[in-house]
Amino acid sequence: MVDIVFVDHDGSEHKVEARSGSTVMLAAVTNGVPGIDADCGGSCSCATCHVFVHEDWIEKVGKRNPTEEAMLSLNPDRKTNSRLSCQIPVSEELNGLIVTTPEFQF
Ligand code: FES
Repeated sequence: MVDIVFVDHDGSEHKVEARSGSTVMLAAVTNGVPGIDADCGGSCSCATCHVFVHEDWIEKVGKRNPTEEAMLSLNPDRKTNSRLSCQIPVSEELNGLIVTTPEFQF
């Protein structure tokens, strides 16, 4: 299992376990993490699974795909470390990953 820490905009932490091969979004939804609605179910068409990746993890998480990039371009709260969590596959290399959920998603 892979540990992932979701940090709310107010600093509250939610540590969850995720299976390799799943996604960061599914780890959040399965464990009831607030601020991740995932309205489209992971098809990269709603952007309600937006997270900010901690700077220590940006390289390991990898780059946005083109569809994700297009979705995030519509989001006024986008930052350089923005990702759609449904587009981040969980792998053992991400054990300890830290992401923050945006305030507007609460
Ligand atoms: Fe809809 Fe990620 S769940 S874009």
